[in-house]
Amino acid sequence: MFLQIEVTTHCSFICFYCAGRDMPQRHMEWPVFERVIAGIPPGAHAVSLQGEGEPTLHPRFWDMVAAAKIRGFSPTTITNGYEVDVERIAAELPDVAVSLDTLDEAEATRIGRLKLPRVLATVERLAALMGPSRLRIMTVDYGQDLAPLRRYLNALGLHQHIVQPLQRKDDYARRYPDRVRDNGVYHYRCRFLDAPVMRFFTIDGLELPCCFIKDTTGFTTIDALGTDLKRGVVPAPCAGCREIMTGVATVSRRPP
Ligand SMILES: C[S@@+](CC[C@H](N)C(=O)[O-])C[C@H]1O[C@@H](n2cnc3c(N)ncnc32)[C@H](O)[C@@H]1O
Ligand code: SF4
Ligand code: SF4
Repeated sequence: MFLQIEVTTHCSFICFYCAGRDMPQRHMEWPVFERVIAGIPPGAHAVSLQGEGEPTLHPRFWDMVAAAKIRGFSPTTITNGYEVDVERIAAELPDVAVSLDTLDEAEATRIGRLKLPRVLATVERLAALMGPSRLRIMTVDYGQDLAPLRRYLNALGLHQHIVQPLQRKDDYARRYPDRVRDNGVYHYRCRFLDAPVMRFFTIDGLELPCCFIKDTTGFTTIDALGTDLKRGVVPAPCAGCREIMTGVATVSRRPP
């Protein structure tokens, strides 16, 4: 199974689309991490140390990597690529992802992805050290021109390029409400509730069925989400989720 642990909400960047910027800024406490990792059943699971913050800022990030490995899990993360120890990443992580939305420094700064030259240096060094099979690039498509970025990644031989649209869920889109058109229709079926596809653990160790629930105020149990959907009710934590909607290719092309 794929497991994700939100180890911090702290970040040095201010991406306009990041739900984490509205969350209390803190690190996961070590006893919470220990409880979460100890509760994962044995198996060859991928454990991603990553939530709505920059995971490498956690003071015990490398202890977390070691703890996952000791239990036989495969640790991974997604990083913003700023102030990271590239040599250590290459030596200790089987694979890693770096987020990169644009090659235009002014544009990167405008959307909150700061320090682009440092991020590009990270990508290029990791590409040299880890090779294309161990390095993924994550891009949010918010309407920017992706052609220069694609050319750059091709030149580096980086074929693992994951381009994701802006999240349209209510608890993300409150940061950019004018960019999500309200034209989806709910069908109420969720793959993440039909079977345990993944588990996400919040900074407090709360277990969720997916990584898309950012406002947990209305959350009770995973089973309750499924029960609500079966009777045609959208639970508050799932409001606006494209997983349970049709007709939602809706991201506006207007700049943020
Ligand atoms: C929340 S970040 C955390 C890891 C790290 N700070 C980073 O930015 O790579 C994980 C990934 O989610 C993406 N992401 C964040 N907010 C998003 C949103 N509203 N819609 C789509 N993707 C988003 C980021 O661009 C990044 O690739
Ligand atoms: S770098 Fe990651 S955690 Fe930081 S603001 Fe951007 S998306 Fe959010
Ligand atoms: S937020 Fe979306 S993916 Fe997660 S349980 Fe709700 S409907 Fe499913």
